[in-house]
Amino acid sequence: MVAEVTARPRGAIGVVRAYSDLMTDASAAVSARVRAVAESATLAIDAKAKALKTAGEDVIGFGAGEPDFATPTHIVEAAQAACADPAAHHYSPAGGQPALRSAIAGKTRRDSGLDVEPLEVLVTNGGKHALFNVFLALLDAGDDVLLPAPYWVSYPEQIRFAGGRPIELSTGVETSFRVSVEQLEQARTPRTKAMVFVSPSNPTGSVYPPEEIEVIGRWAAHHGIWVITDEIYEHLVYGDARHVSMPVVVPEVRERCVVVNGVAKTYAMTGWRVGWSIAPVPLTAAMARLQSHATSNVSNVAQAAALAAVSGPMDVVDVMRSTYDRRRKVAYERLNAIPGVSCALPQGAFYVFPSVAGVFGRSVGDRIVTTAHELCEALLDTVQVALVPGEGFGAPDGVRLSYALSDDDLVKGLDRIADALS
Ligand SMILES: Cc1ncc(COP(=O)(O)O)c(C=O)c1O
Repeated sequence: MVAEVTARPRGAIGVVRAYSDLMTDASAAVSARVRAVAESATLAIDAKAKALKTAGEDVIGFGAGEPDFATPTHIVEAAQAACADPAAHHYSPAGGQPALRSAIAGKTRRDSGLDVEPLEVLVTNGGKHALFNVFLALLDAGDDVLLPAPYWVSYPEQIRFAGGRPIELSTGVETSFRVSVEQLEQARTPRTKAMVFVSPSNPTGSVYPPEEIEVIGRWAAHHGIWVITDEIYEHLVYGDARHVSMPVVVPEVRERCVVVNGVAKTYAMTGWRVGWSIAPVPLTAAMARLQSHATSNVSNVAQAAALAAVSGPMDVVDVMRSTYDRRRKVAYERLNAIPGVSCALPQGAFYVFPSVAGVFGRSVGDRIVTTAHELCEALLDTVQVALVPGEGFGAPDGVRLSYALSDDDLVKGLDRIADALS
């Protein structure tokens, strides 16, 4: 069978058929559990944009959820030193190096004021992996998880994969994309095990004020609902917005709370793959057990880099934040100037999430677009601009643009969108 696969490039028709049969067999063999997982809408559009770019097209990518900065030098140097240190060449504790777990506890006290023990910290391959562990460790078949929409694309897939049921609660621009406690209460049933809370939000850039966080936290604690609070954009807030951690505002939520965080967005380290969860010790121990069979330790070199990041200076982050702040205003103003497009001024993260329902029915290039997905395809094909359609975020009237790209590309890309839609 393997010989047939390797024989394919020789081009014999019979062998090619056998190869495609093999592929069909392999597709049929994929488990129902994994067949049910949708491709990440954000990674898919980013991959298409990158492929076009590699092919020489002048593509402007608003799709990727990652900083356009390089990782700060002191972090890179710490990783270089780790590469040369034989101690980093071997397995280390699956739950994370003790020095990094302590540093994350210290950084959390410093940044959000949450008092954390190193044993509550689990170091993971990015925040995404932390969330995956959490849902697998918390959910049983039939458990419901309240999920405000628009949501980050991976939450519903991960919840379903773990056997849970995501219960979407829709929010719109009129409520600044923030869910209310009344909505949560209306959706609550005896099956409600947990809720996902994200502030600042991907994809909307909305940030909850402390008083709303308090009301939601008290409601969750009162009903014994677990809160998974994703704080990965904690340092990227603008204007008067402040990041506030729910278990700090509502200490009684703490016993059923998981904080998820990571170095990716704050320190321009998306490719290094280091995140973490902070959870009560028995849950952390359970997730560490799971992780010990799945991935073992996160790369020691990446952990050394993360240690330098979380215990290092924050002025590098200030520079990145003020750059995003400038760009978000440009994106907000230019998008709102396009007829049929309207958006709220984002207060955090590096995304803007305009409604594009007003352009449905209009022609873009040679086709009429009637959905966000069609609009994004048309914009990529006709003016080489990559945006992410809202369908994957549970918000089919919107599109997501990341403004973590150069000022020149930002303006050029927004001009192209305006031209295509005018
Ligand atoms: C809200 C949110 N949480 C978690 C993550 C995961 O980040 P990473 O796995 O790169 O640490 C992302 C990445 O886009 C995100 O937007």
